Amino acid sequence: MGHRICPWWLGYVLASPLRRLLQDPAAILRPYVREGMIVLEPGPGMGFFTVEMARQVGASGRVVAVDVQPRMIAGLKRRLAKKGLLERTDARLAPSDSLGLQDLQGKVDFALAMAVVHEMPSSGRFFAEVAQAMKPGATLLLAEPSGHVKKPAFDAELQDAAAAGLEVTGRPAIPRSQAALLTKRGN
Ligand SMILES: C[S@@+](CC[C@H](N)C(=O)[O-])C[C@H]1O[C@@H](n2cnc3c(N)ncnc32)[C@H](O)[C@@H]1O
Repeated sequence: MGHRICPWWLGYVLASPLRRLLQDPAAILRPYVREGMIVLEPGPGMGFFTVEMARQVGASGRVVAVDVQPRMIAGLKRRLAKKGLLERTDARLAPSDSLGLQDLQGKVDFALAMAVVHEMPSSGRFFAEVAQAMKPGATLLLAEPSGHVKKPAFDAELQDAAAAGLEVTGRPAIPRSQAALLTKRGN
């Protein structure tokens, strides 16, 4: 783990509407996100999935999006503001050594980790922090780009997730990705 972080300018490419031809955020998220939920998205970039989650949680829900790059957060906020979805989103800059989720312990209904875990300095620490923020029985959709995260590396991520109390309960098909649905034990 601990690979290079995606450069900020790639945030524009990743949030381009053309990506919908490959990955439809509404269809990918619909099985998991409900109105009123508290949803967590570490590494949102400029918000390709965040905007859709903010729509799906509705006015009574909240999306907490945490990124380590100020320019990603700035781009994310611009996009959310344009769609009138900024108020239901808490877009945060992560401290350098954690995700800064202390205020969310046991509160998160659903988390999305899309193309981000391989950029983390430690996937073990990542899953431990996210699991602590999740309610028992809550789910985490983990997806990694299959082009540069091969099966052995993805399996190692799943082992770190298991050590944090997150067990594989589904294998959703997401184009160009290795994906797993993880559920926090203890429901
Ligand atoms: C490849 S991009 C994916 C963006 C988005 N999830 C998507 O699918 O469009 C990875 C994102 O993770 C963020 N990131 C990398 N390391 C991080 C860390 N330690 N904490 C929070 N975000 C991080 C990067 O800044 C970048 O925005």
